[in-house]
Amino acid sequence: MQAQEALTMKTQDPRTIYLKDYRQPDFWVDHLDLTVRIFDDYTELSSILSLRKNSDVKGREVVLHGVDQDIQQLMLDGVELTKEHYRQEGEVLSFECANDKAEFKACTRIYPEKNTSLEGLYQSGSMYCTQCEAEGFRKITFFPDRPDVMATFRTRIEADKERFPVLLSNGNPVDKGELDGGRHYAVWDDPFVKPSYLFALVAGKLSEKSSQFTTASGRDVALKIFVEPQNAHKVDFALESLKKSMKWDEDVYGREYDLDLFMIVASDFFNMGAMENKGLNVFNSAVVLATPDTTTDDRFESIEAIVAHEYFHNWSGNRVTCRDWFQLSLKEGFTVFRDSEFTADMHDRAVKRIEDVAMLRAAQFPEDNGPMAHPVRPDSYIEINNFYTATVYEKGAEVVRMIHTLLGADEFRKGSDLYFERFDGQAVTTDDFVACMEEVSGQDLSQFKRWYSQAGTPRIDVTEKWLENEGEYQLIFRQHCPPTPGQTEKQPFVIPVKLGLLNEQGEECQINTDADYNAKTQVLTLRDENTVARFQKLNSKPVPSLLRDFSAPVKLRFDYSNEALAFLAQNDTNGFNRWDAAQQLYLKAILSMANSKQLGKSMKVPAAVLDTVAAIAGDVTLSHAKRAAMLAMPGYPILKDAVDEIHIESLIAARKQLLSTVSRQFRDLWRSLTESLSSDAAYRFDAAESGRRKLQGLCLRYWLNAGDQSAFEHAAELYRRATNQTDRVNALRAILDGDDQALQSSLLEHFYDNWKTDTQMVEQWFSLQTSGQGIKASRVRELMQHEAFDLRNPNKVRSVVLTFAHNAQAFHDSEGQGYRLLAETIAELNTLNPQVAARMVNVLADWKRFAEPVRSRLEDALKQVLATPELSQDVFEMAERALKG
Ligand code: TRP
Ligand code: ZN
Repeated sequence: MQAQEALTMKTQDPRTIYLKDYRQPDFWVDHLDLTVRIFDDYTELSSILSLRKNSDVKGREVVLHGVDQDIQQLMLDGVELTKEHYRQEGEVLSFECANDKAEFKACTRIYPEKNTSLEGLYQSGSMYCTQCEAEGFRKITFFPDRPDVMATFRTRIEADKERFPVLLSNGNPVDKGELDGGRHYAVWDDPFVKPSYLFALVAGKLSEKSSQFTTASGRDVALKIFVEPQNAHKVDFALESLKKSMKWDEDVYGREYDLDLFMIVASDFFNMGAMENKGLNVFNSAVVLATPDTTTDDRFESIEAIVAHEYFHNWSGNRVTCRDWFQLSLKEGFTVFRDSEFTADMHDRAVKRIEDVAMLRAAQFPEDNGPMAHPVRPDSYIEINNFYTATVYEKGAEVVRMIHTLLGADEFRKGSDLYFERFDGQAVTTDDFVACMEEVSGQDLSQFKRWYSQAGTPRIDVTEKWLENEGEYQLIFRQHCPPTPGQTEKQPFVIPVKLGLLNEQGEECQINTDADYNAKTQVLTLRDENTVARFQKLNSKPVPSLLRDFSAPVKLRFDYSNEALAFLAQNDTNGFNRWDAAQQLYLKAILSMANSKQLGKSMKVPAAVLDTVAAIAGDVTLSHAKRAAMLAMPGYPILKDAVDEIHIESLIAARKQLLSTVSRQFRDLWRSLTESLSSDAAYRFDAAESGRRKLQGLCLRYWLNAGDQSAFEHAAELYRRATNQTDRVNALRAILDGDDQALQSSLLEHFYDNWKTDTQMVEQWFSLQTSGQGIKASRVRELMQHEAFDLRNPNKVRSVVLTFAHNAQAFHDSEGQGYRLLAETIAELNTLNPQVAARMVNVLADWKRFAEPVRSRLEDALKQVLATPELSQDVFEMAERALKG
């Protein structure tokens, strides 16, 4: 079969790409005219590229990317290009071009029906859909598939009218009509230049819900959400979130939407959360479809945030984009910072900060503390898809937040205005972004930029000195960043440390210091390895409250006594630091209990912990959401990251012991709180109500964990009477933690029978089980055989296999059976969907930090993955980095 041979395969030997090798292309593309004809068993592409010589460089080579392209014909300026005229090597097709302006035409075929990678054009349920970021456009047609090549696009789609009544692409609809044979066409024109990764196309039988937004300058924008008909009732919340985002971006950044139409499509098969394609965002159904009856509060919050995130990309990412993929954090770090501020403004600022920091510590700190550590702006990669990481996104957002802290809101806004004005329609670097911030503020940020180039989480050790006679208090800061792969030596960072000093009554002391301290923002800036800050005119020795609001992504250590932490948890004026003090107190307790366990001694919960829990639970001045956050015990990612060697079974035993002591000691309190927090009011999603439900759910879990039979009855009743998904899940989680197996199975069965036609509910049904305490690897295997499971669907894989792998108690149980299950799944997914397979390798990355025998078992699982035949470069890169350690 000739066509089969012509397919270009992904290169077999993985090649490393370096930032230092960046070169501009010899030719730009000004415009792409694309025709996509969808047929039953293939799709035909005709593309016309308007090439223009790049006058800044010498060469004359046109370099295009293409993967799995079945070439029908290639033409340059009307002359057919045959094999003698071009070179084809791996994903690259190149040829010389003598003219400064030229037209390249390609006619090719692709096979979306067979595309399980969910990259390029693929089938998602009954519809066709695309995902091009980062390098998926090359699976659609030949093009310089790199973000610095920005072109206008015109897209014509042709398909069967019955199967695909809706045909969408970027920009504005400019034409449509009928064709022979029951087919029809639509033409879309996108007037804004964009890189190929922002291209999108959708074809399907979709129902449409419209709304409208009037911009600050009075322009009407049509908003449309397209979903499969069974989901038509689940779009209102996303539409409202979109309007809030559009308004917020106008208010806070002064930027309006630019096209007359903004569309969102929901797709059941999606590798990530959502994608900001110009004018046509595509979302994973799980993070856009919502109703109170099927969506938890947490999910409502993340849907609102992701809708905002993708909308915000319209200028932080699309209008101003990345020069190359090393600059990914230019758009992602900035946009995560923006969506996080949006959520803080919509709901509760301190609670959002707590959630973000909890997530950074659970996901990014471990990444920085292991073999996957890389800078916010990496300097090399094999597969760019592996760099959509917590470091690039979340730490990147923290870096932007620090710039915001150092400059203040006004200058930061001026810097963002300059950035947009200067770079609109261009592909730029993180250096360009920082240069704008320097220019408007007059601050020199050259040392600050080490945050972009140095990996690893800096440690700050803080000690104190009290000079009674002088009334002087000193804080001595020492910063140090441990080595990370490829970076043994680190230079000092610029670290903004927001702080306060409290007297014995918990009041703020007046601060008199000659240190680099900004009295207005309470920020002390560290620049050197060692910094001594002297605070004068104090009457008594203060208690320091350090790194308020988590002003820098660092690990700060100060040797607080349990009593001092309990004091801060109850008295600090900074809401974030109250939470953090409680967390430090719990963490210290668990670590010392785990230590006792290992030494064969009995584990005892410190009195300060119990006092703090009681005080917080009864503190009516705290919002429900804050109380819930402050009463939650640190999870395993935090515990693992805090020790030198992980003895997982001691950590598990210690955490369990703490939970059970807290549960039993305050059983009556949990009971009365749970009961008083119950409500029959109609569901509302807002900070107050979701806070109430969060605290109610937590108290119910403690109460049930105390072994009280009436708690089981209360939970079962909450489940049965639930009219919203948050109550339902709160009840189920509590019950699944317990040991009433009859009750567990009957409720799980009831849940599935009731909701088996609702995809989002089935995903939650899976993950409720795989996150439960007692789940065994064998049960996970059974779930993988369930009628609702599908290995080709990433949401199903995540809700069954990945959720289990993140369930530390269950995953590390039973002598490595969980590890083998994970390795087998990765191997199977390696060919079906390399991107998702590669992400799952992360779970095994910290193997070297475990004590034996877990360590060897995890290592074996990694080796098993590396031995997979025909290993994709995605999985290869991750498994190899992990194994090298
Ligand atoms: N740019 C997307 C975001 O901001 C990320 C994304 C969505 C993505 N789908 C992807 C990245 C597929 C790589 C591959 O959230
Ligand atoms: Zn993004």
